[in-house]
Parts: sequence; C-alpha cells; structure tokens
Amino acid sequence: MELEKRYKKYSQLLQKHNQQHLFTFYNQLDKNSQNKLLKQIEDLNFKSLNEKIGRYVKNVFPVELPAKIEPAGVYPAFPRSAEQKKKYEKAKQLGANLISKGKVAAFIVAGGQGTRLGFDGPKGDFPISPVKNKTLFQLFAEMIKAAGIKYGFKPKWYIMTSPLNFEQTRKILKDNNFYGLNAKDIFIFQQGAEVNLSTDGKILLAQKDTPAASPDGHGGSLKALYKSGAIADMRKAGIEYISYFQVDNPLINIFDPLFIGLHAMDKAEMSSKALTKAQPFEKVGNFCLVDGKVTVIEYSDLPKKLTIKKNADGSLVFSLGNTAIHIISRNFVERLNVKGFALPYHRAIKKIPYVNLQKSRIIKPRKENGIKLETFVFDALPLAKKSIILETIRSQEFAPVKNKSGTDSPKVARRMMIARAADWLREAGVKIPRKSDGSAGCKIEMAPSFAICKEDIAKKKNKIPQIKSGDKIYMK
Ligand code: UD1
Repeated sequence: MELEKRYKKYSQLLQKHNQQHLFTFYNQLDKNSQNKLLKQIEDLNFKSLNEKIGRYVKNVFPVELPAKIEPAGVYPAFPRSAEQKKKYEKAKQLGANLISKGKVAAFIVAGGQGTRLGFDGPKGDFPISPVKNKTLFQLFAEMIKAAGIKYGFKPKWYIMTSPLNFEQTRKILKDNNFYGLNAKDIFIFQQGAEVNLSTDGKILLAQKDTPAASPDGHGGSLKALYKSGAIADMRKAGIEYISYFQVDNPLINIFDPLFIGLHAMDKAEMSSKALTKAQPFEKVGNFCLVDGKVTVIEYSDLPKKLTIKKNADGSLVFSLGNTAIHIISRNFVERLNVKGFALPYHRAIKKIPYVNLQKSRIIKPRKENGIKLETFVFDALPLAKKSIILETIRSQEFAPVKNKSGTDSPKVARRMMIARAADWLREAGVKIPRKSDGSAGCKIEMAPSFAICKEDIAKKKNKIPQIKSGDKIYMK
C-alpha cells in the first residue's frame, strides 16, 4: 500500500486507541522516515496494547500474592541416603550420555548491557577472568568447546540478544573468530521489544520517527526461541534439552550431567538450580510452591514475615534462591508456542528519554516518567507439567557480575574464580599457599580447556606446577 493510504488507515486506528500523538511529526519527516514510522505502528498489536495499558498503567493493583505459599522441595547438592546416591549416580550417567549424543544445547540470555557495571556495551564483552582478563563470552565459548571435546560431541550455542545489542554482539563474536567455536554451530537471534508508555498510557516517542521501546525481558526468550527458528534448528539437530544460563555468571557449569540427568529421569519440563541464600533478604528470587507448582517469588515481593520465617533448627523456611540456571525441554517451548501462552508482565517505572511534543526535542528526564514492561523466564515454571530443583553450592557455581563494587561485583567474582580453582586443586592433593585469612595466596586462572569440573583435574595432575605464594598462574 502506498504511504498516503497507510497513513490514513493508521491515523484512524491511532485516533481510536488514543495514540494519535505518534503522528505529531509525520509531515516533517522524509519518505524513508515516514515509512519507518508506519512500519513500527503496523507492528503494534492494539488489542494487547490496550490490555497492557488497562492492567499495568491505568488500574495498577499491588502484586497479588497467592494465599498459600509453601517452600519448594529440592534435590540436595549431595545425596542424603543410599537410595538417593544410587539415583544421582544413574542420573549422572544418563546426563553424560545425553550430552555425548548431542541432545543438550547451550543457551545464553545476553540481552543485558553492562550499564550497572558502568560498562558500555553488551555485558558478555566484560573482561572478568583473574589472570588473562578474558571476557564473559570468551569463557562461555571455551566452556562449550571443552565440553565438546570431553564428551565427544559437536556442541551448539544459542545466543539471545536484545534488539539493541544484536549487531554489536555479532561483531564481537566475529571479530574474535567465535572464540574457537565453529560459526555454524552458533545461532544468534534477537528477543522481542515492548513499547514504553507514559504514566497516562501514551506510547512515548524516542525519536520523531521511532516509538520508544525496550527489550521484553528474559521471559521473551521462550517466544524468541520459537519465532527465530532456533527451536526448529534444535529439532533438526536432535537437541532435546536446553541448558539456559545468564550472561553474568562466569562460574556456570553449562553441561552438568547430574542436573541434566535428574531433569530427564524425572521427565521434567523446566528445572532450576537453587542456592541456599546467604541471608534472608539476599536479592535473589525465592523458590516457593504455590498450588503444588514450583514458582519464583522475587525478593521484593515475598512478604517479610515469610522471608525471615525459620525452621526449628534455625534455617530459613524459604532458603532457596534463584540462580537463573535452568534446563528447559525443547518440547516444552514448542508446546507453549503451539498452544499459545502469555507470561505476566512486570512493570518498572523508569527515566525514559522522549520527544517532547510541544518543544519538538528530546528530553532526558531527571525523574521517572515512564513504564517499561518485561516478562521473566521463571514465570514459565508453573506452566511446566513437572519441575525439579537441584541445590548447588555457591562457591562452585554462582558468582554473578552485576554491580560495579560490593556484592556481586567483578572483584568478588574474580576472587571466587580463584578460590574455586584453588579448591579443585586442593581436592586433587595440590598444595595451595594461603594468606592468613585462609584465602589463596596466589592468583590462579584455570581455563576451561584445563578443567570444566573438579573431576577433570585428576587427568591433568602431571601438568600442575608447584604453586608458591604470590604466583600468578594460568592453566590451560
Ligand atoms: C536475576 C533474577 C533473579 C535471580 C538473579 C540471579 C530477574 C528479575 N531476577 O536478577 O531472580 O536470582 O538473576 O543472578 O531476572 N536479559 C535479557 N533480556 C532482557 C533482560 C535481561 O537477555 O530483556 C538477560 C540479561 O542479559 C542477564 C539476565 O537476563 O543475562 C538477567 O537479567 P538481570 O536484569 O541482570 O537480572 P537480575 O535483576 O540481576
């Protein structure tokens, strides 16, 4: 349809939905920009937009918490009975078998920027390893490659970016030769976006020809995996399990036979790893049981009474924190998309730059002026027919890099990477120099090519040098 006709059609529609301000500058735009704006308006789903405005802008209710929230059941990190030990051993074998048959793929949600770290660019490009300063992306790529060699299969890596960092991420991977992986084994795709709304329900304009929008949250991955063709690609490659992880955790164990095996054995559809919270108010989601379904309730939403509630032995009743590490069955993602599903939106009030319609220029607000809507992947847990949780040990698998300093900072993550390497070496009988506080008295970086789990060390013992206090050691 020619521009003029499309303009007329959408003018009426925008008017009907009270969004006609989007055309304020239409007549000042050149043909390309007019076309660009029209295309973005054509992509809007007005029915769902109105629902969102009604539910998340105009009539906002406080988060509705279920009446009955119980603690969720968990497989402990170490088996507690002979029977459980047997099950874990079987699960490990099954998991290793599934990995070596190429039935498990790595999947990273990498839509986030390094903003909170004060880093300009995709967070995956943040340098983190303690000796070589490798980036998060490089570490993950090397872990994936090492798993391929260990288990004798051709690993595939699915990478979800946001529309904002897609090109940059692609360039980073390409410029680094895909960190030694095969380009054709990497499938990179974009998540969806959600328009940003003013507090009175109007779509904000980011530019005169562009409505303001932001990534739709990691929950968008469940739709984007399907829409992008990643799921079809997995089906073709015989992949049945998706190992989901976040871009911020350099201690992730992407191909964990025990976790994969337990998930498969129990015929779960979406499973999670949990850690024991360091303190009641730690900023991680809480695994709970609601109507018999595993559900994550964010730290900000769990009532204080429950957050501090203790068992008779003094431990927290709601002790299981969300690591955002999941195994998701490919079938589950297919089923959701074929049947249709909707995850709830979470609203965040933010400072969103916008074009002021009267002043006709971009304003960077000092106060919060708009609403961003996101979905969260863990809200899909209650949709799974079965969901298991496996406890993991923080020092072994969870060092998220989130803040510039303090908790979850690069400094803490680097320290944890050194401590884990030292731990693995010590368990293999290697003497580690210690400082007076017990921490390693040396800097160690263990490349994934050296070991992706502590069991790998045994085969490398002859490659381990003597470690002296103050040494800086890189093992590959
Ligand atoms: C998240 C979880 C929290 C969990 C913690 C563990 C939420 C709301 N909370 O917190 O329950 O305990 O991690 O570290 O997620 N991402 C996208 N696209 C988006 C938004 C995010 O790909 O649109 C990716 C990021 O790149 C990152 C991950 O999702 O890999 C997590 O996002 P982030 O916003 O950093 O979550 P947290 O609030 O840190």
